[in-house]
Formats: sequence, structure tokens, C-alpha cells
Amino acid sequence: MDHFEYRDGELFAEDLKLSEIAEKVGTPFYCYSTATLERHFKVFSGAFDGVQSLVCYAVKANSNLAVIKTLAKLGAGADVVSEGELRRALEAGIPAEKIVFSGVGKQPHEMAFALEAGIHQFNVESEPEVRVLSDVAARLGKIAYIAFRVNPDVDAKTHAKISTGKAENKFGVPWQDVSRIYREAAELPGIEIKGVDVHIGSQLTDLEPFGNAFDRVRELVMKLRLEGHDITRVDLGGGLGIPYDGNIPPGPESYATVALNSLGNLGCQLIFEPGRLIVGNAGLLVSKVIYVKQGAERKFVILDAAMNDLIRPAMYEGYHQIDTILEPDGGAELEAVDVVGPVCETGDTFARERDLPPVEPDDLVAFRSAGAYGAVMASTYNTRPLVPEVLVSGDQYAVIRERPSLEALLDLDKMPPWLEEK
Ligand code: LLP
Repeated sequence: MDHFEYRDGELFAEDLKLSEIAEKVGTPFYCYSTATLERHFKVFSGAFDGVQSLVCYAVKANSNLAVIKTLAKLGAGADVVSEGELRRALEAGIPAEKIVFSGVGKQPHEMAFALEAGIHQFNVESEPEVRVLSDVAARLGKIAYIAFRVNPDVDAKTHAKISTGKAENKFGVPWQDVSRIYREAAELPGIEIKGVDVHIGSQLTDLEPFGNAFDRVRELVMKLRLEGHDITRVDLGGGLGIPYDGNIPPGPESYATVALNSLGNLGCQLIFEPGRLIVGNAGLLVSKVIYVKQGAERKFVILDAAMNDLIRPAMYEGYHQIDTILEPDGGAELEAVDVVGPVCETGDTFARERDLPPVEPDDLVAFRSAGAYGAVMASTYNTRPLVPEVLVSGDQYAVIRERPSLEALLDLDKMPPWLEEK
């Protein structure tokens, strides 16, 4: 459920007309709803009420400081994958002891920063990584609390580019090697083993792969305990899918049942890293129609937003529902159109043969479910400035990231001395 609804013939974000925000901020822009963010976080964490658990919001999904702070105020922890994300989480008020650090390529300076901050856990993805972490921790006189991310060799049944739990993927250590890897890591200075971590992919709409992965984690925890390791935490990653196209995937309650069935009675702290589920449907990308063009075979609706602003359709064949900001009248005849951006490649297509009500230049449209992996994946391709982000709360809104000027964008480039005008 989200708080973007038609009222009086117009799409609202909570108690504000999106058309009014568009007038003030200009298009395109991302718009997030505080009430929706809060609701999603509460529904997810509520599914684990009474369970020793820590919900670490996956900052990569949407790393705006205001979004993180909204969640921090509800008690969220954070899952981060770079020093930059770690700094964001800390700055937004998430205590270090609620932060886990994931990712296959952590560098020594990032490890050092995280150790100095005193984070909850490193999710270590390889043997070379744990050796470097040990060196860094020993040098700083710190202890790194770790879980190894285990690759359970499970098919998450999601898009290949966001599937991470198969043996062929770059993630985690092979589950078959876990005994040896834990035994060797336990000997390393500066390392204290705490748990087992798994994350098999994103936008999972079927619970079975989760169940398979969690059962594997359970077996590993029992085995590692028999081998003398004090396993007190399991990190189950993120990945629970959201509705994009009207099909409703299983929700947090059913996911919790699967997780607790496998791992509920191990006496471990359960750590979760949801990203998309929290922010995905809490955000829209609002854009304006520039032209409507009849091609030889298709009709094209050309928007002022493009693939550089929202890359999911181009990169993952992602589907985003597109709504007109003015509520279409019941009798309006829909027409199949291609919805495209101004970028100079055919990949810059948001939707093909999508049934839309008639639109004209200057009409506003909203891409739904754009709160996760939208603004964070934007680029300035075609020298298009990053689009601003707006956060709504009730009848208030604030620009939480401004649209940079073209001057600022150009100013990032520097002339080498030999090209300077004499
Ligand atoms: N934990 C780890 C270790 C991850 O790699 C991810 C996502 C998450 C948690 C959060 O997963 P979520 O709950 O959001 O599914 N850009 C792609 C999604 C990439 C996901 C990367 N890892 C997209 O737009 O679909």
C-alpha cells in the first residue's frame, strides 16, 4: 500500500498535488512519501515482533540522507556496501552498532573506517578479504565481528542480473567449503566470528528459494556449532519483491513465516537487509510529455525523463506502471504507445506498446514504484543533470536533493594546462 492516490481528479502524494510540486520544482523529479516509507518499515519489522532481530535497511536502494533519517527515527539499522554509504548511514543518525557492511570488494581504507566507527558486523565474501580485514583490524588494535556470506547455490528465480545466490555468481564463499574457511578464519588475529550471512538476489516473488537458502543456512549453523564456533547471528539479506505490475508477491508476514520456520529456534539474532521493499513503492518519478510523435509503425510519447534518470527498464527489462497525473476519465479510450526519453539510443525506452489514456505535450505522468534503484542509479549521460528528489510528509514537502545547474555539471570537468586558452 502506498500514499499516492487520485483525489478530485488528480494524483496526490499524501496531501499534496503532484502537479503543484511539479510547478515549483520542475520536471523530472523523484517524489517520496514519508507515510509510505514508515508504513513499509513498520510492516516489515512488525513481522518479526518478539524475535531477536535487526532490520538493516539496504542503503543502496535509496541513499538520500532524508530517506535514511526517516527510517533511522523508526529504529532502522543499515546495510552498506561502501565507505560512502557507511558515512551516509552514520550521518543520518543510524548508530554504528546497527550497521552491517556487505560487498565483494571492500578495500582496506573502508574496513579501517568501519572498524573505527565500531560497526555491528562485516559480511565477508572471500578468504582474501578476511585476511585483509584481519591485517587491518590487528594494525588498528580492533576486533572485526564477522559473518561469512555463504553462496548457497540456490536459484532465486529472478532477473539474471540481480540473481546472486548461484554457484556461478561472484558472491559469497561456496557453502561446501564453509568448515575449512571458518576454521582458518577463527585463527586470524583481529577477527571474531559471529554468524552466517546469505543474500540470494533481489525482487524475489516466490518464497521457495528463500526457504531453500534459509534451510541451508540452518544446516551450516548447526554444523559450525558442532565444530566449535559460537554462532549467534544469521543475516538473511534482502530481496523480498514488490508489486510492479499489479501482481502481488508474498508479503513480509509470509516471508517471516518462512524465515522463522528455518531459523527461528536457533537462538540467533536474525538480521535482515530489505531495500526495495521499504522504498520501492514509496517513490515516483514525475515527468512531462515533450512530444507525441507518430512514427511509421508506432506512436511515441517522448518524455523529459530518460534512461539516465531511471535505468531499470533499459537494464533489467523492469516494468514500471505509468499513470497520468490527471485522472483519466472512465470512458477514455486507451491507446498502445511506446514511452521513451530524449536520450539518443533505442534502449531509452520505458515501455513498449503500453496502453495509456491520450496524452499531450506538457501533460504530467508518474512512474510508479521508482523509489528503489531509481535516483541512486541515475547518471548524467547526454549531459542531463541529475533530477531532484522531493520528500513529502502530509501537506508539506521539501527538496531533499536539488537539481544541479548545468554550470555546476560542466564545472566538474577540468581543462589540462595544454588546452587552456593563452
Ligand atoms: N543485501 C545485499 C547484500 C544486496 O546485495 C542487496 C541488493 C540487498 C541486501 C537489498 O536487496 P532488496 O531488498 O532491495 O532486493 N538495481 C537492481 C537491484 C540490485 C540489488 C542489489 N543488491 C534493480 O533495480 O532491480
